[in-house]
Amino acid sequence: MPDTSWSLLYLSQEDCVAAGGADMSETLKAVERSFFLHGVGDYIQPGKPVIRWGDASTEETTGRIMSMPSYLGGNNFKEQLHLKGLLGPVQTSGIKFIPSRPENLKKGLPRATAIIIILDPVTFIPICVMDGAIASAMRTGAASGVAAKYLANPDSTVFGLVGASVQGMTQAAAIKAAVPNLETLKIFDINQQSSLAFAERMSQKLDMEVVPVDNVRDAFIDSDVISTATMAREAYVDPDWYKKGVFHAEISFWDTPPSALTVFDRIFVDDWYQVKHHGVDVSWRAVNEGHITEEQISGEIGEVVAGKKIGRESESDKIFFNPIGMGIHDLSEAYRVYQNALAKSVGTMLTYFKRNSGWLDSLSI
Ligand SMILES: NC(=O)c1ccc[n+]([C@@H]2O[C@H](COP(=O)([O-])OP(=O)(O)OC[C@H]3O[C@@H](n4cnc5c(N)ncnc54)[C@H](O)[C@@H]3O)[C@@H](O)[C@H]2O)c1
Repeated sequence: MPDTSWSLLYLSQEDCVAAGGADMSETLKAVERSFFLHGVGDYIQPGKPVIRWGDASTEETTGRIMSMPSYLGGNNFKEQLHLKGLLGPVQTSGIKFIPSRPENLKKGLPRATAIIIILDPVTFIPICVMDGAIASAMRTGAASGVAAKYLANPDSTVFGLVGASVQGMTQAAAIKAAVPNLETLKIFDINQQSSLAFAERMSQKLDMEVVPVDNVRDAFIDSDVISTATMAREAYVDPDWYKKGVFHAEISFWDTPPSALTVFDRIFVDDWYQVKHHGVDVSWRAVNEGHITEEQISGEIGEVVAGKKIGRESESDKIFFNPIGMGIHDLSEAYRVYQNALAKSVGTMLTYFKRNSGWLDSLSI
């Protein structure tokens, strides 16, 4: 009789950290890997099903529940991945399940939680179930970091950040790691206490001067790099605030008005099909409302990473990056953490089943 039992590795948040889950330099490599494989087409990523209780804007009030299945390859691109200093192939599939409930914050609980499942590449049976909240925040930061690496002016020194919560912190860490000449970070959050707490926590970690500012305009004026990561429900960005050559990563949804996208020379997304499918991102709303044409979307950042498209064409280009968030980033990052956990014997092995179909012996009516 063959052994038909199956075990899987469970990784809590603490296990993920012990396995290097909070190491932004490594996350940047995992996320650049998934952008590269996206650019060369070695991935599968269906549109995300979203449960919400109303139109798109209710995601910021009552919340949403998303599922993000994906497959990521790499075996045919080992050499290129290696030459780019990225991590090796993934060659498997998985899913992130990510509910977001804004009112949780009042109870001291996280707005967004997540579980990621990684499948065995041969049998398609789960080999790992792990916290996905850390991977989710880390990969979102890293997506902006990789975009900044390819699209921001490398001599950028001033960074304006709006939103001082979890995503704001990973935006800051990843963008600083990707654009090391940044010297000053101006942080604005509608909740001033959050800005102050951000400055206290992040100043040393980032090796930058972190300056809380009193109004959002000050975060934008004279900034070379901008990131918006808020739960704003109404647009507040004035397009006159942008300086020439700016790079703006908008990972949240309602900060910049769709009409403002007309001031950008280049607009990049992570995956245009996903952006359209979700129908919330400002890049999609700008096209849908007729402010810009679909042709003005310059491309997907993976095409730039894979060398198929030029990112920045001139030092003075104003560039907007608007990712919807891709399941392949979660898979790439989760797979990195899973491999580390195996190597470091971190986590708990759980019995999934002891005998294939053994439960049928207990079938009753
Ligand atoms: N595109 C992606 O891939 C992706 C991935 C993950 C999260 N997100 C989005 O990132 C955003 C931030 O996530 P989070 O987990 O940090 O959220 P959070 O709820 O923990 O924090 C949001 C922060 O925004 C601040 N804020 C709200 N309105 C504001 C305004 N008008 N001006 C300035 N600050 C304001 C709040 O005070 C809070 O500090 C959310 O919109 C989330 O959906 C995007």
